[in-house]
Amino acid sequence: MKRILMIEVSPRGGESASRAVADTLAARLAALHPSAELTRRNLAAEHLPHLDETTLRAISTKDPVEAGNLNEAARRSDHLTDELLNCDLLVIATPMWNFGIPSALKAWVDLVVRPGRTFQYGGEGVVGLAKDKKAILVLASGGVFTEGPWRPWDFVEPYLRQILGFIGITDVQTVRAEGMNIPTLARDAVPKARKAVEDLVL
Ligand SMILES: Cc1cc2nc3c(=O)[nH]c(=O)nc-3n(C[C@H](O)[C@H](O)[C@H](O)COP(=O)(O)O)c2cc1C
Repeated sequence: MKRILMIEVSPRGGESASRAVADTLAARLAALHPSAELTRRNLAAEHLPHLDETTLRAISTKDPVEAGNLNEAARRSDHLTDELLNCDLLVIATPMWNFGIPSALKAWVDLVVRPGRTFQYGGEGVVGLAKDKKAILVLASGGVFTEGPWRPWDFVEPYLRQILGFIGITDVQTVRAEGMNIPTLARDAVPKARKAVEDLVL
């Protein structure tokens, strides 16, 4: 394991459950792979741009002249895409917001899921180009989604697994701090997730 990329999304700093669990995971990874380079990218501090017309054209084109006129957001997209393609392990630590991912994470997805870079259309459909990587999802939510009546409302894990699979990352494990807004569950949610981190196969 040479490079680990950790995408962190919560803006809640020290109060964030997903970040607390990500910290535990980072410590375990550092112990297991002391020579690996760990990049922690805090999307809450980055304000990644949404795709506008110029950026979209610049990151979609195969025309080198048009690509040569890359704007700032497209350069950022290049950088984030290189960072993703160069990692061996991708960690995404995110809250559930309104049953889906926060828009900051969606902005990152929109900047790295790119034809010709992380996927391509082949004769038999789509081929993911982000090969030989593993991923770990660290998910925090106010409710419980691994079982019970709210399970169909989870548009976080199914979406992330789907989009990662689309670009070629199919070895995905999940750790959850769930029930953060349910008084009887909240206190144990992070300790339980930290324990689950210790049990991950890394
Ligand atoms: C804007 C916002 C929307 C939220 N939407 C949901 C939701 O749809 N379902 C849910 O179970 N919890 C929801 N929550 C609760 C968070 O998922 C929960 O507080 C979680 O711990 C946030 O992750 P963090 O602690 O890493 O910031 C929401 C919280 C916020 C601030």
